Amino acid sequence: MGRSESEPIAVGVLGGGFMGGGIAEAVARAGHSVLLYEPVADARAASAQRLRKSVGRAVSSGKLAYGQGEALIGRVSYLESAEDLAEAALVIEAIVEDLEVKVDWFRRLDRIVPESTLLASNTSSIPIAGLASAVSCPGRVLGLHFFSPVPVMRLVEVVKALDTSPETLRFAGEFVESLGKQPIATKDRSGFIVNMLLVPYLMAAVRMFEDEFATREDIDKGMALGCGHPMGPLTLCDFIGLDVLYAVCQSLYEEFKQTEYAPPPLLKRMLAAGRLGRKSGRGFYEYAAERGATASPDGAARSRATTGGRGV
Ligand code: 3HC
Repeated sequence: MGRSESEPIAVGVLGGGFMGGGIAEAVARAGHSVLLYEPVADARAASAQRLRKSVGRAVSSGKLAYGQGEALIGRVSYLESAEDLAEAALVIEAIVEDLEVKVDWFRRLDRIVPESTLLASNTSSIPIAGLASAVSCPGRVLGLHFFSPVPVMRLVEVVKALDTSPETLRFAGEFVESLGKQPIATKDRSGFIVNMLLVPYLMAAVRMFEDEFATREDIDKGMALGCGHPMGPLTLCDFIGLDVLYAVCQSLYEEFKQTEYAPPPLLKRMLAAGRLGRKSGRGFYEYAAERGATASPDGAARSRATTGGRGV
């Protein structure tokens, strides 16, 4: 591919939501330039605002100098046309967890970018092989699964699909390291390594709550204080987003047909009621609009140890 891994590259990010925006921040922080395409204008503006806010926090906490923060923001361009992704050496897709929508976008990207551009998906569980089948050179397609919040979490799963080339994997591994994160190699099976382990645990907590075995606070305290997890499982569900988790469960269940992956009825009902977790203001807990504020009706979820300290 003729790229020098030590040099900054132009990275396209497709989707400016919580994950896409977080990826853009982490990539720009490492000195690469970011071409972010978010088709919805309002969402694009919200993404730019979230970046400013996050960088502002890093500056005020002394993690970044003011000038470094401004330079980071300056490295992120918000595209109005997807055609401009053609300039990127690597495009990371971070759009909705829906196979058809992703396949459509991979087809479109295949027409936009040159053959030398690598195409990665940040999917949590959708088979990379299905996305690779939508492009003319599947050797350049792989999964790069980031964890939330992306600027903080130090792991990226590097997913090898059936046709991913060794050169693509090598480049991707070095790119992940350039972000100051650790790559781990995983095969293209639903859930990869982390979600295959994490989702049954989270769903067991949802079932425990659904069965009224214990309160949400005690379930969360159990794992936060008893096992040293930064967040209890129900807080973590809210943090990830119940819609995202539901899609991951469905994908895992479809792949393995094991009941531990099946989404519990309560999760489905909460989705139907629009209780998506932190992003919608209500999930297993209640949230105020501002990050950091607590709006639990009984105040019981205010403990930092129980809730991970923010927003619950
Ligand atoms: N964006 C940027 N930075 C953030 C942030 C955000 N959304 N949230 C927290 N931070 C930073 C803070 O600035 C702080 O940085 P500093 O220590 O350098 O000042 C640091 O993270 C710690 O933040 P706080 O002290 O405010 O809060 P906590 O110590 O409670 O940590 C947390 C917050 C990092 C979110 C921690 O609770 C945690 O690690 N939770 C678990 C997260 C987790 O499990 N993520 C994986 C989810 S699974 C997934 O993403 C896969 C998907 O496919 C489902």
